[in-house]
Amino acid sequence: MLSGKEGNSTDSRKYYLKRLRTYRSGAKAVGWRSRQSQEKRFEVISSLLDDGDKSILDAGCGAGDLHAYLKIHNPSIVEYVGVDAIPEMVEVAQKSNPSAVVRTTTIELVDGGCAWDCVVASGLFSMRLDDNVAYMDSVVRKMVSLARKKVIFNVLSADSATKDPSTFYYYGKDEVLDICKKYSSCVTAIDGYLGNDRTFFLKKNTEK
Ligand SMILES: C[S@@+](CC[C@H](N)C(=O)[O-])C[C@H]1O[C@@H](n2cnc3c(N)ncnc32)[C@H](O)[C@@H]1O
Repeated sequence: MLSGKEGNSTDSRKYYLKRLRTYRSGAKAVGWRSRQSQEKRFEVISSLLDDGDKSILDAGCGAGDLHAYLKIHNPSIVEYVGVDAIPEMVEVAQKSNPSAVVRTTTIELVDGGCAWDCVVASGLFSMRLDDNVAYMDSVVRKMVSLARKKVIFNVLSADSATKDPSTFYYYGKDEVLDICKKYSSCVTAIDGYLGNDRTFFLKKNTEK
């Protein structure tokens, strides 16, 4: 179940289930416009990992497509755990990625301090909620608490030329930076890879 804190959780669930029923698997099934745009996001995440990163928690893993991508592009990752709030999504993820550990839960409910080298989220913050900024603040704090070394996530950008603001939330760069800087002194914003997206990279303060 999506957490109550997620505000419009029923709407989010309805949206993703409809996409899943229509497209069954792949990028469109999890709400992306195309496989290319999903992979551009994965490419950025992958470029921020290094050979010392061995374990990853994928928050909002959807159909598990990042697992398949990392197997090819970041073979040093030996432990992948994906969590998603929607059981039907997890079922698809597990079927397409039998070697991955995938669980139905929200990121808010995952236990374990600093249990993974990297905690990532691609698309987790896309849906418009009652209070996106407060929600992001609590989830980023949680992600940082679960990561040994780094946190990486992307958002839909307020610079996007085409928008559907009744369904999605488009974040201003500074709005996200203000949250990230509460939890890390080393924050980078990456853009320019897609017209409607921005990635945020937080190093834990112990990371050089
Ligand atoms: C846009 S999809 C992206 C899926 C995948 N990360 C990808 O890029 O292919 C976002 C996913 O996040 C999941 N999600 C949203 N909020 C969540 C939460 N608080 N905890 C776990 N999963 C969540 C949704 O169920 C959905 O499957």
